[in-house]
Amino acid sequence: MQSYAETSGHFLESHATGLAVAFVAGAGILALRRWLAGGVCRSKVRLDGKTVLITGANTGIGKETALDMAKRGARVILACRDITRACIAADEIRQQSGNGNVVVKKLDLTSLRSVRELARDVQENEQRLDILINNAGVMMCPKWKTEDGFEMQFGVNHLGHFLLTNCLLDLLKKSTPSRIVIVSSLAHEKGSINFDDINLDKDYHREESYRQSKLANVLFCRELASRMQDTGVTVYSLHPGVIRTELGRHLFPTLALWQRIILMPLLMLIKSPYAGAQTSIYCAVDESQANSSGLYYSDCAPKKPAPKALDDAAAKKLWDLSASMVGLP
Ligand SMILES: *[C@@H]1O[C@H](CO)[C@@H](O)[C@H](O)[C@H]1NC(C)=O
Repeated sequence: MQSYAETSGHFLESHATGLAVAFVAGAGILALRRWLAGGVCRSKVRLDGKTVLITGANTGIGKETALDMAKRGARVILACRDITRACIAADEIRQQSGNGNVVVKKLDLTSLRSVRELARDVQENEQRLDILINNAGVMMCPKWKTEDGFEMQFGVNHLGHFLLTNCLLDLLKKSTPSRIVIVSSLAHEKGSINFDDINLDKDYHREESYRQSKLANVLFCRELASRMQDTGVTVYSLHPGVIRTELGRHLFPTLALWQRIILMPLLMLIKSPYAGAQTSIYCAVDESQANSSGLYYSDCAPKKPAPKALDDAAAKKLWDLSASMVGLP
């Protein structure tokens, strides 16, 4: 039989352990939140009279970025696939920013025809283009194909934006100093470019395909920056942080219920779209980066990407392959 002292000692001990665990967990969560929150763009630069085009801007960090650009006074073009949702987002951005100069244009990055149509519209009807933000992305979808028969993630995240950017270069060059911002991801670090099987036809893994497309983003930034040297067009790629948005819409439904329940509290810790947009905004406007080009950023600071993302020969090879795939000379 246990004495009172023993039980009470045991109670105190387990209670103390519980308190310690709660304390450590609490401190850990706060530290994790701070860490996940990353940097904030502190630039107060105005963009009155300037034009910004953002792809996939109807939700998540794209919408947050668009809102920030609108608050700075820019004409903001939301280039989106879903016009209905984009118009709702545009209304909200106009209201929240007090800037009525927010327009929607149709862009379906799964179709090269749609990319060319949007680019022609912009070249013909816009006076200038100061900032292009390649933000739209598909994450870890099943083995799908674009209209042109490309694997979906490489097709949308890289090829569609590759063509769009090339088609808008003349206007960007006329509007210098101008910037091109390419939203990549930390996921590029484990990626490789499968030059022999770029559509991953032989062996499709959605994670591998995603990483390949994100590595392609960083390599594209590097090669484009070298081609744009001394033109006044600067190029930036970045990791936005893990964002709790609809990017996960292909990932979440594939998980079992217990996995979702475990992930839920983690999702609470993940960056809000506001925090996730900060590095995009920093690359788009911050004065300190005006003369930087071809670099990779994370938490509002330049960061060294993976060695594979610094391979100039691969960057050149990827450019040539991409150009031939989308039919650019
Ligand atoms: C960028 O270069 C211009 C021209 O050389 C210079 O006037 C400016 O101070 C530079 N800006 C930064 C942030 O380095």
